[in-house]
Amino acid sequence: MEKVGVIYGSHYGTTEQYAEWIAESLEAPVFEASKVSKEQLENFELIIFGGGLYASGIKGFKLLKEHSGKNLVLFTVGLADPQVTNYQPVLQHNLSDEQLQHAKIFHLRGGIDYSNLSKMHRIMMTVKKKDVEKKMKLNPNEEDREFMATYNKKVDFLDRQTIAPLLDYVKKELRSDV
Ligand SMILES: Cc1cc2nc3c(=O)[nH]c(=O)nc-3n(C[C@H](O)[C@H](O)[C@H](O)COP(=O)(O)O)c2cc1C
Repeated sequence: MEKVGVIYGSHYGTTEQYAEWIAESLEAPVFEASKVSKEQLENFELIIFGGGLYASGIKGFKLLKEHSGKNLVLFTVGLADPQVTNYQPVLQHNLSDEQLQHAKIFHLRGGIDYSNLSKMHRIMMTVKKKDVEKKMKLNPNEEDREFMATYNKKVDFLDRQTIAPLLDYVKKELRSDV
């Protein structure tokens, strides 16, 4: 049985980059979620799952739909600044009550290149922009301001140092397991 497996769901590579950094730091294997079976998950004592945020979804997380959340570390990667973002709606939408109770969750910041988005994603972002524009006139929050500030641009917030708290947590968990 392997101690740790890092699994990720990523469209444009930012979550993949964080997953690679985490795997490298922990000397753990790394897998793309669509290439892993539920049976393979049982080979790991602890799973670190990273998923890009896509509106109400966490990319690839359906692989863990039936997982208890025990020995699960989840990290999300989004455009929004984790310091000013409320993740409760997306977590509640994607995780079971049991997973919410047991999983350890971290939020990291990715990036976006609007010129490189798929047609569908471009449409989704245009729709979101219209919603946020309306909110900007009423009661915008920091998340909305950030969205508008980066809309249609290429931005890269990837920062290897931000995985440190996740690594510390996992290392402690592994030590307490011995
Ligand atoms: C259609 C669409 C929806 C998105 N929704 C969110 C969101 O709800 N929250 C967020 O923080 N970022 C959102 N993002 C930004 C992505 O999460 C961000 O670009 C992330 O780094 C993508 O990860 P990936 O490169 O691994 O695919 C969205 C991006 C697109 C294209």
